Amino acid sequence: MCSPPSMRRHPLLPLLAAVLVGAAVRAGKIATEVVVPDFVASYLLFIDTYGVFLQSGGGGAFQAVVYNPAGQQDRYYLAVVHVPSKTCVWVANRDAPITDRAAPLRLTARGISAEDPNGTVVWSTPAFASPVAALRLDESGNLALLDGRNRTLWQSFDRPTDVLVSPQRLPVGGFLASAVSDSDYTVGGYRLDVTAADAALTWNGSLYWLLSTDVKSTRDRDGAVASMAVNGTGLYLLAADDTVLIQLPLPDAKLRIVKLGVDGKLVITSYASANATSPSPTDAGFVAPNSGCDLPLSCGALGFCAPNGNASSCTCPPLFASSHDGGCTPADGSKAMSVASCGGAGGDAAPTSYISLGDGVAYYANRFSRPDMVGSNGSSCQALCSGNCSCLGYFYDESSLSCFLVQHQIGSLVNANSTRRGDMVGFIKVQSSQSPGSPSGSSSNNSTLIAILLPTIVAFVLVVVVGAVIVVSWRKQERRAGRRASRSRDVQLRRHRSPASDSAHLVYGNDDDGDDIVIPGLPTRFTHEEIEDMTNSFRIKIGAGGFGAVYKGELPDGSAVAVKKIEGVGMQGKREFCTEIAVIGNIRHVNLVRLRGFCVEGQRRLLVYEYMNRGSLDRTLFRPAAGQPLEWKERMEVAIGAARGLAYLHFGCDQRIIHCDVKPENILLADGGQVKIADFGLAKLLTPEQSGLFTTMRGTRGYLAPEWLTNTAITDRTDVYSFGMVLLELVRGRKNRSEHVSDGAGAATGDDSNSSNGTTGSSSRGARSDYFPLMALEGHEAGQYAALADPRLEGKVVAGEVERVVKVGLCCLHEDPQLRPSMAMVAGMLEGTMELWEPRVQSLGFLRLYGRGFAGPADGSGGSGGGIKQAMAGSNGDHTRSGTTTVTTMSGWPSYMSSSQLSGPR
Ligand SMILES: *[C@@H]1O[C@H](CO)[C@@H](O)[C@H](O)[C@H]1NC(C)=O
Ligand SMILES: *[C@@H]1O[C@H](CO)[C@@H](O)[C@H](O)[C@H]1NC(C)=O
Ligand SMILES: *[C@@H]1O[C@H](CO)[C@@H](O)[C@H](O)[C@H]1NC(C)=O
Ligand SMILES: *[C@@H]1O[C@H](CO)[C@@H](O)[C@H](O)[C@H]1NC(C)=O
Ligand SMILES: *[C@@H]1O[C@H](CO)[C@@H](O)[C@H](O)[C@H]1NC(C)=O
Ligand SMILES: *[C@@H]1O[C@H](CO)[C@@H](O)[C@H](O)[C@H]1NC(C)=O
Ligand SMILES: *[C@@H]1O[C@H](CO)[C@@H](O)[C@H](O)[C@H]1NC(C)=O
Ligand SMILES: *[C@@H]1O[C@H](CO)[C@@H](O)[C@H](O)[C@H]1NC(C)=O
Repeated sequence: MCSPPSMRRHPLLPLLAAVLVGAAVRAGKIATEVVVPDFVASYLLFIDTYGVFLQSGGGGAFQAVVYNPAGQQDRYYLAVVHVPSKTCVWVANRDAPITDRAAPLRLTARGISAEDPNGTVVWSTPAFASPVAALRLDESGNLALLDGRNRTLWQSFDRPTDVLVSPQRLPVGGFLASAVSDSDYTVGGYRLDVTAADAALTWNGSLYWLLSTDVKSTRDRDGAVASMAVNGTGLYLLAADDTVLIQLPLPDAKLRIVKLGVDGKLVITSYASANATSPSPTDAGFVAPNSGCDLPLSCGALGFCAPNGNASSCTCPPLFASSHDGGCTPADGSKAMSVASCGGAGGDAAPTSYISLGDGVAYYANRFSRPDMVGSNGSSCQALCSGNCSCLGYFYDESSLSCFLVQHQIGSLVNANSTRRGDMVGFIKVQSSQSPGSPSGSSSNNSTLIAILLPTIVAFVLVVVVGAVIVVSWRKQERRAGRRASRSRDVQLRRHRSPASDSAHLVYGNDDDGDDIVIPGLPTRFTHEEIEDMTNSFRIKIGAGGFGAVYKGELPDGSAVAVKKIEGVGMQGKREFCTEIAVIGNIRHVNLVRLRGFCVEGQRRLLVYEYMNRGSLDRTLFRPAAGQPLEWKERMEVAIGAARGLAYLHFGCDQRIIHCDVKPENILLADGGQVKIADFGLAKLLTPEQSGLFTTMRGTRGYLAPEWLTNTAITDRTDVYSFGMVLLELVRGRKNRSEHVSDGAGAATGDDSNSSNGTTGSSSRGARSDYFPLMALEGHEAGQYAALADPRLEGKVVAGEVERVVKVGLCCLHEDPQLRPSMAMVAGMLEGTMELWEPRVQSLGFLRLYGRGFAGPADGSGGSGGGIKQAMAGSNGDHTRSGTTTVTTMSGWPSYMSSSQLSGPR
């Protein structure tokens, strides 16, 4: 159920890994079979492998992973996944997920521990007598801690979650417990228990299947069960001497996965080999219970289940109607009792009565449960239920005089014949019904009941509606008042702020949780309500950047703003967030988008930026609105403006800021020739950095410098590389790297994401064979620059400037970061105030590899193309492997981590 998110390989990374840096690739590498202390993993550290840090020996069919099912951002588990079938076979911390993608999972000599961002250990292995020497994932998927003499100290096979993998064993007393849902591994309601007599499926204590009574099982002999085992020939209950007591023979298979699903079904899937992606064709699979109607909630609470061919159909008993949660509820408006209403109302405070379920209807659990009382009559059975607060109903078998109580929870109903009890009558305890206590009387006066109830219900609904209207209008008034108050607060703040207010201490009370955050130079703080007002409840979405959606809004003073909702980043504490905001908010430069304010409330983080009405450069450059290409003069202005903005980030602030995601989507334009860099300083919001173990990096493919893949430090020259790519795109007017798949990180503030996969995708697909940076290099070598300019400009360019931009762009791409000019030099060279550098061809050779690689698998010719071919072949696969190095990346988050802490045998 915890199938890994679909993994798509980014063609650039393996290409670089295999060809450029070879054995030097260390970051995020998946270890094989063993890792040794001290080792640290987190989702963020292994983001390019989706958290996978260890693969099993003997083919790597299993992987150990810091796993976030369904891509959620606040629940990470240490899990073992069977890769070909995408089945999560084991979870360590199911009840204590790690809440942050950056929070570390540590392997030390004391064992494994998982921490919360604030350092609290949320899960750990027990204490051991001898120190841990290694963590091993063996070929059967068992994750074990070994001591120095290879003895097992602890293993995942001893602590199953909801899955058994052959040849795993479950000792008597052991159990599998289902998960709450496919994305939340918290223990759910279903269990498979191995008892001394049998293997049993229960729903919160009530039995619905026994292995011994399954039609496919056979009993070899009687005896006390010592364990349950699953292997290549079937499922077995074994005695202490390993002789078979009960067996469920299954067709031969190499691998079997026994899983208790979130719906309570026990499913055994068989595979012909450990790395087979689909179940073995010789095996139809095994599902228990074998009829859908035997599941406790086959038709929801009080739904009646009837077998219908292979499937089942659901109806409601005569006096019941279907309820919104999929089950049935009394049609007369009364409420079936629940344990909560029993305890909460202080026992019999509310009068209870019973509604008949009709004849021949039994409870799913009647098949296995023992009567709570025998030799009784119907009224004493009812009395037994009435005297028991947790009793929610009863079934009485008139032929055997047996009384069955339904306690704690109510499941589905079945045909009494299927439970081999023909004369069953059932009654459900309800509250505030007008029906008399007599169980049989209720059906005849059904219509009078409605006649009595209807006016009451109407009156009640009226009261509720009127009440709601009053509350809503009162709220509105309050909000208006609040807005007025906040406006006056705004004014006050401005008044208190001296012109050079950057270090003024502003105190903002947080109405929500009462914590005051005092940070020098914090920009205006808005409440979420104010943001809702200014964006008209987030009505106009103008883009979706790497951090979340962007909405258009308006400040009370009438100026337009872009509001960025930060989503899916490791949530920092408010203080850390505000510290970053204070830094970003204090950066003022004509070529940098200004932060006007922010909002931090609970888990919400929003940033309010000045609005740039022409949107991002990619739109104007690649997809001009009226088909009118951006003029050369404007391109030069954009190049120079953006270069100045970046130069200021690198050298003009107290704290050097590396953008990490320079691309046309993050260069915004507005009327009057304004050019501004957006999204700076946000890379820091990605991680608390508190552990100091790693540096965060992010970027967008096509603009990622080679050093993202090596252990080389990320510096301002990393931005220079990306900017070089942007310069070449400005020259050519199209993307260097064709985006045949639109990626989520595409748009940014002011960008219209809806149009982002239109023209670029199709037009550049045909041009895949000419990788423009390589064309630029070749043009430079031939001394022919004019031909490189955007053909749409039809020669209306300044030839000298084209040459200048191409040369500067190529210098920015030098493979060795130290050979790239600084951003200040780039700005100077573009302006013509600094002497132009000559590109070093020998430091640009890698562009030829990229160029050839981008020709696609069909064109891949021999030589080094082999590696490229292999890399490219995997580009559409789910999750491919080349040699022992797996390099994958996720669409929209092609971040790459680098850290010397990433260990494992190399
Ligand atoms: C750490 O954070 C968690 C929630 O993320 C909280 O429940 C816990 O109390 C915190 N512990 C400390 C010591 O602050
Ligand atoms: C432990 O097992 C590994 C292989 O599984 C082997 O290489 C290593 O030498 C063993 N160590 C000891 C102390 O036996
Ligand atoms: C399961 O039963 C227990 C009592 O045995 C009760 O407290 C709990 O709420 C029940 N859970 C559900 C999901 O009904
Ligand atoms: C599976 O276990 C049973 C009982 O121990 C045994 O009889 C059978 O031979 C085993 N099958 C395989 C393939 O190991
Ligand atoms: C599966 O594993 C077997 C060895 O266990 C190997 O021979 C085979 O090539 C593998 N198949 C695939 C598709 O990897
Ligand atoms: C019922 O299941 C069997 C095999 O399990 C299949 O052959 C048959 O087509 C199914 N019938 C329907 C109506 O789905
Ligand atoms: C049912 O049984 C109880 C005692 O078990 C007895 O007092 C009562 O009269 C019986 N009711 C009927 C209707 O037989
Ligand atoms: C149960 O079976 C009996 C005969 O075996 C049949 O008369 C009766 O209609 C069945 N009841 C239901 C509800 O199908």
